[in-house]
Amino acid sequence: MPDLDSIVAQARTQFAAISEPAQLEEAKARFLGKTGSVTSLLKTLGGLPAEERRVQGEAINHAKQAIEAALALRRDELARARMEQRLAAEALDVTLPGRNSQRGALHPILRTQRRVESIFRSIGFDVAEGPEIESDWYNFTALNSPENHPARSMQDTFYVDASDSAGKPLLLRTHTSPMQVRYAKIHAAAHREHPEMAPIKVIAPGRTYRVDSDATHSPMFHQVEGLWIDEDISFADLKGVFLNFMRAFFEDEHIVARFRPSYFPFTEPSAEIDIAFSSGPMKGRWLEVSGSGQVHPDVVRNFGLDPERYIGFAFGTGLERLTMLRYGIGDLRLFFEGDLRFLRQFA
Ligand code: DAH
Repeated sequence: MPDLDSIVAQARTQFAAISEPAQLEEAKARFLGKTGSVTSLLKTLGGLPAEERRVQGEAINHAKQAIEAALALRRDELARARMEQRLAAEALDVTLPGRNSQRGALHPILRTQRRVESIFRSIGFDVAEGPEIESDWYNFTALNSPENHPARSMQDTFYVDASDSAGKPLLLRTHTSPMQVRYAKIHAAAHREHPEMAPIKVIAPGRTYRVDSDATHSPMFHQVEGLWIDEDISFADLKGVFLNFMRAFFEDEHIVARFRPSYFPFTEPSAEIDIAFSSGPMKGRWLEVSGSGQVHPDVVRNFGLDPERYIGFAFGTGLERLTMLRYGIGDLRLFFEGDLRFLRQFA
């Protein structure tokens, strides 16, 4: 009779040396499998006399149970070791400093635009946006710019490689003024149905484009257009609205404004608006901030309104200029270079 104790001891040693679950199953087969050493012993029982068979059988079964117990123990050990390994690998080091998520911020020009919008909303102006790719008609013709106006030349205007239904080339709008006509055409019609509504009282901020690039000009820049048309809107209203705008924007109640005669095809008379601060580094200097004027009767007609009855003002102001004055920035190109050291200062 083979030494059962040594078979059990052998099994224990082998199991203890194994660290892979698959190998453990192979080792099990060597003892308890179909041709395993314990199984073979069981098969010899049949040839033994009854009494001896009982004694031997019991001993072999004991050995078998001992091996199964050793196997189960090792399985548990391996499973626990695996779990501990995983926990260690996936452990969070709660003492590590956190990773801050960086907050985005508005670009300084967009901050200015939002500020301008809220000032005008507070005095009842609508805010409208329109296309940056514009037709020749809206950008020039409807605004009374003659065919041979220099602004229409290739040197000043970016043309797009496409044309409108009239066969005229499309272009990148050179100012926000085409929004006067786009907005007015729609709202003049609404006004005819609801005459109690002011026909047109709107600002239109947005991107504009010109072939121009130096410290105070960028090929892409921003303007805000203002337009107020009703039966009795005068230059006095323009002055009141614009001064309120400047004083609110710069938070300076003592800003003064002056109107200098000028020329724009879509206004008559036309004026440049200069402002002067009452304090600070720019104190007392006249600074040009806007074009403006009384909307030309031909343009009012293009709005779909009778110029004998409707009158009002328009203005167009550069948002870069306002931003530069507000923050004391000397070079307009800084806005569009994407240098975070510059931009973060406004966050
Ligand atoms: N569109 C003009 C420009 O870009 C600015 C301007 C002048 C707009 C007078 C107006 C205006 O509405 O009345 O130079």
